[in-house]
Amino acid sequence: MERFVFLVAIASALLASSTASAEIVEHSFIVKKLTVRKLCHEQVITAVNGSLPGPTLRVREGDKLVVHVLNESPYNVTIHWHGVFQLLSAWADGPAYVTQCPIRPGHGYTYKFNITGQEGTLWWHAHVSWLRATVYGALIIRPRSGHRYPFPKPHKEIPILIGEWWNANVVNVESQGRLSGLPPNNSDAYTINGRPGDLYPCSKKQTYKLKVVQGKTYMLRIINAALNNQHFFKIANHRMTVVSVDAAYTEPYLTDVVVIAPGQTTDVLVTFDQRIGSYYMAAKPYASTVPAIPFDNTTTRGLILYEGDTSPAPVMPALPDFDDTPTAHRFYTNLTGLAGGPHWVPVPLHVDEHMFVTVGVNLLRGGQRFAASMNNESFVLPSRLSMLEAFFDNVSGIYTTDFPDKPAVKFDYTNPNIGNTSLIFTKKSTKVKKLKFNSTVEIVLQNTAFLAIENHPIHVHGFNFHVLAQGFGNYDVVNGPKCFNLVNPQSRNTIAVPVGGWAVIRFQANNPGVWLAHCHLDVHLPLGLAMGFQVENGPTPSSMLPPPPPDLPKC
Ligand code: C2O
Repeated sequence: MERFVFLVAIASALLASSTASAEIVEHSFIVKKLTVRKLCHEQVITAVNGSLPGPTLRVREGDKLVVHVLNESPYNVTIHWHGVFQLLSAWADGPAYVTQCPIRPGHGYTYKFNITGQEGTLWWHAHVSWLRATVYGALIIRPRSGHRYPFPKPHKEIPILIGEWWNANVVNVESQGRLSGLPPNNSDAYTINGRPGDLYPCSKKQTYKLKVVQGKTYMLRIINAALNNQHFFKIANHRMTVVSVDAAYTEPYLTDVVVIAPGQTTDVLVTFDQRIGSYYMAAKPYASTVPAIPFDNTTTRGLILYEGDTSPAPVMPALPDFDDTPTAHRFYTNLTGLAGGPHWVPVPLHVDEHMFVTVGVNLLRGGQRFAASMNNESFVLPSRLSMLEAFFDNVSGIYTTDFPDKPAVKFDYTNPNIGNTSLIFTKKSTKVKKLKFNSTVEIVLQNTAFLAIENHPIHVHGFNFHVLAQGFGNYDVVNGPKCFNLVNPQSRNTIAVPVGGWAVIRFQANNPGVWLAHCHLDVHLPLGLAMGFQVENGPTPSSMLPPPPPDLPKC
């Protein structure tokens, strides 16, 4: 395997005045073909620096991260960085045709941003076609020197990336689905740190192993990098304490199961205090769709080996049923933010913009093709120019700013019979909601039942939001606000909206630019389950979108 270029330039002198220990952390990402063997099968994939998952980036809060991406693959590439970053961040956000045109084969682009106001686990992935199946990695933010975790320092910190694997070229899997108008093929396996684990054929040696010392506490930084499936994650005989989600600290939450949606991250502390032995960690899908549809119902597992272990048979955890919504809901709703902890942002109490946004899968008007929509607008990416460039240069014809604040008509959103009405039909558009700089927006995300109800993980670029409340059925506009947690709600960038239910989120639009909000299931994004925010410039130079970097790729 190829060693990769790893350049850490220390620029403390340069930044000495404001941030005593801040560094410029510089990396090079070479994106190119890689041949790997998995599941008795040889497959050419696209990967960064010859590894799957790609490199783990480690920074401290306050650092500046600079990543030079060179595209030596045959495909268009962009990289998106989960989290909220300041300075040039909009130009570095990455979704193709939203904030930049793709990096064409043979070309490069340098992503630059400041790591501020966040600690914990984030991640990066390709944001074009389905390439993110193999182009992804961890982004770990630790406290700056002299600062501490709001919990005892773990003995070791281990990234655990749950991935999804096809015995096929994922770019073709997606385009075949898109051309046929039918769902693309299901995956063949899930992986932990790139390894499927010993429940899959030819995979005994492809099992991730973690050696631990009895009595010590480890931090597992769990990332769901799978494309289309949420997961239940368990460790046999061990409980976990959640301490942060999406790089925002939580009130410590003790649990025997973690539920994690694509896009989300969950940091847990685990004390390995059991008998010396070996224990499986395992992940299997939480598939919420009702009525159920076929999905890859397999289990990936890795091994936790206590030092000194000689036992022949590892212990396997009992995993919830794939449709165990009560367990998923309990986990997702029991998490609370660490109010007053490092980087805690209080909930803004005055709301400037109220939005009610339906979320679901429907049919395209004039045919029987699947489509997905938010407020019945099925989002299509532009192809001539990125939306952010159109915003900056005032170019019309790329998108419009009339994304509706609410559905055109009120209906019984979660009634299973609404699929028989003409409301099922949606139309394509490229619309954003315009927000004034620093305005506070509250959004009710409401699942619809046209073809099925389903838990959709909605990811918002550019902002962390507070999750004020979640529930099942139709949101009650009158009584809903009585249940809001305005004191210590979880703060996240991806919310798994309950199946056949709703979630209320709130954030302050303090980041000028054009930002995508979308379902993080990759079967739904190309179907149009997305919308955009256009956040206007603020009054001061530091609150204005800077000009594009000179190397911004051309369409
Ligand atoms: Cu992790 Cu727009 O995506």
